[in-house]
Amino acid sequence: MHFNPGFGHSAFPLTPYFNPAFMSIHREVKRVTTHTLTEMKEAGEKISMLTAYDYTMARLLDSAGVDVLLVGDSASNVMAGHETTLPITLDQMIYHASAVVRAVQRALVVVDLPFGSYQGNSKEALQSTVRIMKEAGAHAVKLEGGKEVVESIVRILTAGVPVMGHLGLTPQSIYKFGTYTVRAREEAEAERLMEDAHALQEAGCFALVLEKIPSTLAAKVASSVQIPVIGIGAGSAVDGQVLVMHDMLGLNSDFSPRFLRRYLQLDQIICEAVAHYVRDVRSGDFPSSSEQY
Ligand code: KIV
Repeated sequence: MHFNPGFGHSAFPLTPYFNPAFMSIHREVKRVTTHTLTEMKEAGEKISMLTAYDYTMARLLDSAGVDVLLVGDSASNVMAGHETTLPITLDQMIYHASAVVRAVQRALVVVDLPFGSYQGNSKEALQSTVRIMKEAGAHAVKLEGGKEVVESIVRILTAGVPVMGHLGLTPQSIYKFGTYTVRAREEAEAERLMEDAHALQEAGCFALVLEKIPSTLAAKVASSVQIPVIGIGAGSAVDGQVLVMHDMLGLNSDFSPRFLRRYLQLDQIICEAVAHYVRDVRSGDFPSSSEQY
């Protein structure tokens, strides 16, 4: 018999929470909040974050104890097959986010503001955020950039919505930089990044993602700000790690940056299972007499 916390989801009635410590004595799940993440940093506990874009996977990741689920605009790449994150729309982000929110019992759900939904002015940034909060039921938003987005961050915060920042490699600016190589190797760029990190903290961001920067710089940033710093390709001396779910599960074998650890080779497992199914259908082995009415 599976351990069933009794969430009453008809699609997966027996999906367990693997770590019962997440539940209080009444077996209610203690939700992760922005405050939880601050406490984790203060206590030296590392934060785990993964991307999620759909109900079924979000439910599994949440059950496995991931602290933060990011509905990343990387959906543009891994869900829709675009080369960059630029094409994904606000409506599409809301569609993905609402599926993730419906699945989650414990994790904090952060949703990326997509390209073009916040850069115009702070009023536009707030309007996009309000749609994400109202229509998807998200818990927080994330946006890319430093000092240039501070006005928008402040305006979003006045509406009571927590904001996560994102510095270093910022994929929405890929055409400005032209490559996906490591950022802030030069001193001037490293100094700018440090200033931006402080500007985002002062503006009121509850956390910060640092993408693909030298680990020594990431360590300096993490120790000089009070807010949690979550790294992707930013080394181990930050307060938490984030990976794109499809990458860490091995669904994209052709994407192999140094920072990526693959925990599964799911592409092979899926291909083998599907090839097996095709063989069984062709041979008439499936369905058997016990698999029909
Ligand atoms: O969209 C995304 O997946 C992200 C992570 C890489 C942090 O922003």
